[in-house]
Amino acid sequence: MKHRIVAYKTLPADVAALLRERADVVDVDASEPGALAAALRDADGAIGASVTITPAMLEGSRVKALSTISVGFDAFDVADLTRRAIVLTHTPDVLTESTADTVFALILASARRVVELAEWVKAGHWTASLGPAGYGVEVQGKTLGIVGLGRIGGAVGRRAALGFNMRVQYTNRSPNPDAERQYGARRVDLDELLATSDFVCLQVPLTVETRHLIGAAELRKMKKSAILINASRGATVDEAALIDALADGTIHGAGLDVFETEPLPADSPLLAMKNVVALPHIGSATHETRHAMARCAAENLLAALDGTLTRNIVNPEVLKQ
Ligand code: DGY
Repeated sequence: MKHRIVAYKTLPADVAALLRERADVVDVDASEPGALAAALRDADGAIGASVTITPAMLEGSRVKALSTISVGFDAFDVADLTRRAIVLTHTPDVLTESTADTVFALILASARRVVELAEWVKAGHWTASLGPAGYGVEVQGKTLGIVGLGRIGGAVGRRAALGFNMRVQYTNRSPNPDAERQYGARRVDLDELLATSDFVCLQVPLTVETRHLIGAAELRKMKKSAILINASRGATVDEAALIDALADGTIHGAGLDVFETEPLPADSPLLAMKNVVALPHIGSATHETRHAMARCAAENLLAALDGTLTRNIVNPEVLKQ
C-alpha cells in the first residue's frame, strides 16, 4: 500500500512528483487553524518547514516519520517524537555553504554599512564625496569569534581565515581539529571569545541550553567596537537586552537574519536602528539550495517510511527501539 504523506509547504514540481510516484500526497495550508493537525491524523508522514508541530497535533495519529526542510529542528519536541517512535529527519550539509554566505554578507554589510549607505544613495543624499561620518570598519585582519563551530560555523570560519585573513576563535562542546588544522581556529571559553572578538557570530542550534545564551551580561563582556552576527535562531539572544545594548553603545552594531518573533513586528525598535542590518531569515534562501533541501527532505521521508534511512536523522534512537 502507498504511504500517505502530508505536505505542509509548497514543494518544487519535480520534488512533488517524486513523492507522488511513491505516495499519496495531501497538500495542506498550515496557516488554516487546525488543518495540519486534522491531516496528520490520517497520515504516515509529513514534510514541510517553518511550522511548529506540537505533541497535541500528533495525538491519535499513526505518523511514523516527519521530515523538516531545514537543518534546524526547534519546531519539534524531539523527546516527544522519540517517545512516539516517530523518526524526525532534517537537511544538513546541502545548505551549509549558502548559509555561511549569508553570515558573511551580514558581517560585511554591518561592518561597511552597506545597507545604510545604499539607502542613503537612493534617497538622493550623495551630493559630495563621503566623509568620515560615513566610514565603516575593516573586516580583514580582525578577530572573528564563532559560538558553535559545527558545519555552518566551520564554513564561516574558513571564509574568514582563508578569504579575509581573520583570526578565528571558537567555542564548541568538543574541539574541531579540522578547523584548527585547516585555518588555525583557536578554541577558547565564551568569556574570552566575547571579550576579544571584533565580530561575535552565533552558530548554535536553539535548545533549552542556548535560549538567551547572549543576554545583557554577555553583551557587556563584548568590546564596545564589536558587532554581533546572528543567523542561527532569534531566541539564542535576549532581543530586549540586545536592543538596549545597541541603543546605549554597549556594542557597535548587529547583523541579524533571525529574531525572537518572525516576521519581525513592524514596531520592533531594531527597524529604526542604523547600526542594525536586518534580513528576513534568508540563511539558505537561494533557488539552488532551497531546491536541494526540498529534494533531500523528500528522499529522507520516503527512506524513513521504508525503514532504509541511515543519515539525516535527528533522533536515531527511535530506530533502536
Ligand atoms: C534552517 O534550515 O534551519 C534554516 O534556518 C531555515 O529555517
